[in-house]
Formats: sequence, C-alpha cells, structure tokens
Amino acid sequence: MSAAAQRAYRQAARAPDEPDNRFLRDVLDGLARQQKAIPPKYFYDAEGSRLFDAICALEEYYPTRTEIGILSRHAREIAGAIGPGAVLVEFGAGSAVKVRHILDAARDLRAFVPIDISGEHLIEASGALAADYPGLTVLPVVADFTGPLALDSMLPAGRRVGFFPGSTIGNFDPPEASALLGRFAAALGPGAGLVIGVDLEKPVPVLEAAYDDARGVTAAFNLNLLGRINRELGADFDLSAFAHRAVWNPESRAVEMHLVASRAQRVTVAGQTFDFAAGDTIHTESSYKYTVPRFHRIAEAAGWRADRLWTDPDRLFSLHYLTTS
Ligand code: AVI
Repeated sequence: MSAAAQRAYRQAARAPDEPDNRFLRDVLDGLARQQKAIPPKYFYDAEGSRLFDAICALEEYYPTRTEIGILSRHAREIAGAIGPGAVLVEFGAGSAVKVRHILDAARDLRAFVPIDISGEHLIEASGALAADYPGLTVLPVVADFTGPLALDSMLPAGRRVGFFPGSTIGNFDPPEASALLGRFAAALGPGAGLVIGVDLEKPVPVLEAAYDDARGVTAAFNLNLLGRINRELGADFDLSAFAHRAVWNPESRAVEMHLVASRAQRVTVAGQTFDFAAGDTIHTESSYKYTVPRFHRIAEAAGWRADRLWTDPDRLFSLHYLTTS
C-alpha cells in the first residue's frame, strides 16, 4: 500500500460499531424464536469466506460469473455513467476483485474507498489495488456497511458513486433492502450514483441448484455457521445431526437456506439450552430474487432513480445504475 493509502487507512480505521458480544446476543435471540434463525452475516469467518469463494466458482452458482460478464462487457458504459472525478465507494469490498473491471475503464476517478468490516481483508485488498493502479488514491474504511455510516468526513470532495455488487442486496428482506439503499443515499450525499448488482427471478430448479450444489460446498458453508458458533461461543452443536436445505419460497420470492435437525436434541450455547425436535430448522439465509420493476420500486422508495440497466443475454442477473437528485 502507498504511504498515502496507509495514512488514510489509519485515519479511517476505527473499531466497527459492533460490541464484542453482538454475535452471542444475535445467536441467543435467534435460537429462542419459534422459527429459529441466525443472521447470514455470521457466515463469513475465515472458513466461511473461503467456502463462499469456492461457491462463486461452482458451475451451479451462476451469479458471480454472470455479473462479471456484465461488468466486463459494459465496463466503458459503466465508467461513462459514473463520470469523471467521482469518488467510488464499495460497500462490503472483501477482496475488491469485481471493481477492477470498473477501475480499468474509469481511469479518472478522484479516489476509490473500499469499506469492509474485516480490517485484515481490507489492508490486503487495498495494498494489491494500490500496486496495480499506481495513479489511484485508495482510502480504505473499516466499517459495517449494514450499520449507520458517517462517511462524510472520511471522503474527499467530489460526487460520490456507490458500488454494491454480488446481489448482496438480496440477503435483506425488501423493507430492509429499501432502508439500506436509503442509508447508502444519505451516506453518499447529494447527486450520488450507485452501481448495484441484483439477481433476477428464474426457473426454480436453476435457483435451488445454485444453493444446493452437487459437490456439497454450499452445505459445508451453511453448516460452518454451527461450527463457528461452537468455536467462538463455546457451543456444542453436533454438525452431523443437521442437514442443509435450500428451497424456493414462492410467497417471499426468495431461496431460503435452513439447517434441519435430523433428530431430537438439546444444544447448549453459553450456558443456555435450546431444544430441537427432529425436523426443526434454523433459518440461516434468504436470497431474494427480483424482477426489474420490483427492484426499481424498492430503489425508488429509498430515493433512488433508475438510470441505466445492463443484463446478460439470458437475463439471469441485472446491473443497475441509480442516481439521486
Ligand atoms: C452473498 N450473497 C449474495 C450470496 C447469495 O447468493 O445470497 C450468499 C450465498 N449463500 C449461498 N450461496 C451464496
């Protein structure tokens, strides 16, 4: 990382606005509900992130390669929509791989601001970007983009454009998704833009296979959540007594992932016990799928206006450019 990027990192790096025991509280609250549930953001420890990268490379998991295809085919138009001198802000940047398609085409950005909850990931990704794009100012910010974002003092002057790929928006239910888009608009300020990837509705067998692959990588990803709870919260889940299930819910228009108890059992987490009957499930993730008009409605409810739309030839996935006034 360049000296300038290092300095900026130190200024911006703050402990994420999340108390240490938040994971424990969310797990205890979620397991106490009638429909047991654990928020999907807890999938991503080191092992979960490794398994997610493996999911992205699976034949059945079409979103990653399809979105990358759209980004690379339309990079010049996307750069044109972003415009010169913009500050590009990626929410949940991870290893910041997809943004490279935009950075290759938009050589006149004022700065790139990757935001991620994992400082370690961010240092690595920012160092690699600074090496590969020597003229680019990289200003990493450690933060949980799902929480309140006070970015203003951390961003250089200039029009701000958000980047939120991967259909991560699909992991929020539509009201939450709209609220998140509203917070992005507020954090980016007046006259902002947003490049956002949104997965589209398609035949149910294609959707269910994407979340239940033949090699069992998604099953391992789902079960790792229980492994993480055992490792970090001292719980005693027996991973062999739970099975992965991915099913399309036609009412909510989402693929739901569950962990299904294969027998009656009692589990202890931080001294609290939770009983499961055979067949009880823990809901671990919903992945909402949209039609273009339905996505436009939740974006418009959050104050965004649909400006451009790019899709692949099979209309599996969509990439939107939204603006605020
Ligand atoms: C990160 N997110 C958009 C992925 C999705 O498709 O909902 C997470 C995932 N879960 C299972 N496979 C991939």
